[in-house]
Amino acid sequence: MRVLSGIQPTGRFHLGNYFGAIRQYIALQDNEQAFYFIADLHALTTVRHAEELKDNVQNAALDLLALGLNPEQATLFRQSDVPEVTELTWLLMTVTQMSLLEKCHAYKDKIAKGLAADAGLFTYPVLMAADILAYDSNIVPVGLDQVQHLEVTRDLAIRFNHIYGQDVFTLPEAHVIEAAAKVPGTDGEKMSKSYGNTIGIFETPKQMRKKFMAIKTDSTPVEEPKNPEQDSIFLLYQLFASESEQAALAARYRAGGMGYGEAKQALYEKAMDYFQAARERRADLESRPKDVEDVLQAGAARARAKAREVLNRARIACGLSSVS
Ligand code: ADP
Ligand code: TRP
Repeated sequence: MRVLSGIQPTGRFHLGNYFGAIRQYIALQDNEQAFYFIADLHALTTVRHAEELKDNVQNAALDLLALGLNPEQATLFRQSDVPEVTELTWLLMTVTQMSLLEKCHAYKDKIAKGLAADAGLFTYPVLMAADILAYDSNIVPVGLDQVQHLEVTRDLAIRFNHIYGQDVFTLPEAHVIEAAAKVPGTDGEKMSKSYGNTIGIFETPKQMRKKFMAIKTDSTPVEEPKNPEQDSIFLLYQLFASESEQAALAARYRAGGMGYGEAKQALYEKAMDYFQAARERRADLESRPKDVEDVLQAGAARARAKAREVLNRARIACGLSSVS
């Protein structure tokens, strides 16, 4: 089974990205043939500064490798290093109905806000379909927000196969990541770059502590009992702590006599511990940029070999000549 997913380099990864996506990608590399890529072409629809995009891509690769993505097991590459995908996007575009794209949320939300959308944003789901179909992907782990795009991908694959009368494309399935569906941010809302409430995975300990200390809480006085289930500090603590540690902290919430400051400190210490090894790996990788580039290049070569095979199937099916 081929597992494939992409993650956009639109900023630094935060705890929501880790617990909601990255952790699951990494877990899947043990048993499946995993392809993971940094979706830099998709990021072009929002990042419009060359240096910023380059930085984001480099940081994304460092973060993923430091967090445990093992290039011996999984194939890691930059989306733009596989030009076969952009060619496949065109072939798919010719069977894509406008009405299908008009329903897609990224475009629809932008229009609803009265903002002008460009063709890149409008056709974004077709590029995503090409990303998936180019590698005969079977399983695509994604957050709930991407399920619609998987449906578009399946629609396009079925349509292309139907028009050209052949089984050119493999139909992928979304694998929705439900655990930790909503990691809260510092304001209690869903953690997201767009809300400015994120805590980065690799912020300095000082920055991290400051962010944890600033998490919004209710105004229950220290001596009174508190409800752990409705508190962002506790919800975040659960992501890092063992069951017995969670039970111990929950008991302290319920007993009263503990201020939120103390829970924040406990959360900070757990988070530091949790990412300590990754932090060390990241520092090491950062000092070896050439090795990181080599990983991306080797990944791209593997990905391209597969994409070329699928692209040729599609080219031949629709009457174009095959390429070597
Ligand atoms: P952001 O909302 O910060 O722009 P993205 O949309 O780039 O994040 O998300 C990348 C991945 O991380 C997606 O699979 C998404 O579902 C997951 N993710 C992002 N924020 C959270 C969150 N707060 N809780 C759980 N998963 C999240
Ligand atoms: N659109 C996805 C996101 O914003 C990223 C992405 C691009 C992707 N291509 C993909 C995810 C292919 C899975 C498969 O999160």
